[in-house]
Amino acid sequence: MKSHTMEHVLFFAVMWAFVFPNAFSVPIEDCGSKVGSFTNVAISSCKGTDPVCILRKKSNVTLDILFTTNVTDNSVKAEVHGIIQGLPIPWPVQNPNACQSSGLTCPLEPGNKYHYTATFRILQSYPTMHLQVKWELKNENGDDIVCALIPVKIK
Ligand SMILES: *[C@@H]1O[C@H](CO)[C@@H](O)[C@H](O)[C@H]1NC(C)=O
Ligand SMILES: *[C@@H]1O[C@H](CO)[C@@H](O)[C@H](O)[C@H]1NC(C)=O
Repeated sequence: MKSHTMEHVLFFAVMWAFVFPNAFSVPIEDCGSKVGSFTNVAISSCKGTDPVCILRKKSNVTLDILFTTNVTDNSVKAEVHGIIQGLPIPWPVQNPNACQSSGLTCPLEPGNKYHYTATFRILQSYPTMHLQVKWELKNENGDDIVCALIPVKIK
C-alpha cells in the first residue's frame, strides 16, 4: 500500500516535470510587467531545482527571457538592478539596447513571442552575498514590458 502510494507520487512528479519542464525552476517573481508579460526566465548557471540561482564569480552568465508584449514597442532598453536589503543598486549591463544583439527585432509587435538573451559577467570583485536581480525591459515610454525579480547568490 505504501509503495503503491509512493509510485503514484513519483509517477505524477515525473509527469508534471514532463508536461511543465519549468515547474521546478527558481521562483521568479513578476515585479510589475505592465505592457507585456513573460512566460519563462532561465539563467545558464542555474539548475531547475536550485532554490536560488548561484552566480559564480569570474564567470559569464546568460539570461533568457521568453515574453510577449501588448503594445508596439519601438525601442527596448534593459535596466538591471541588484536589490540588496530592499535597496535597488544599478547593475551595469553590457548591452542596454535590447533591440541590438539580444535576439529581438524592433519594433516589437503584439501577438508575437519574443526571446531575449543577455550575457553578463560576474566579477571577482562582487561581494559574496544573496540578493535579487531585477531585470527590466522598458519601452520608449519607460513602461515595463518585462520586470522579473530573480533570487540569486553570488559565490
Ligand atoms: C495583454 O493582453 C492580454 C490579451 O488581450 C490580456 O489578457 C492581458 O491582461 C494583457 N496584459 C497586460 C499587461 O495588459
Ligand atoms: C567573459 O566574457 C568576457 C567578454 O566577452 C571575456 O573577456 C571573458 O574572458 C569571459 N570570461 C569567462 C570566464 O568566460
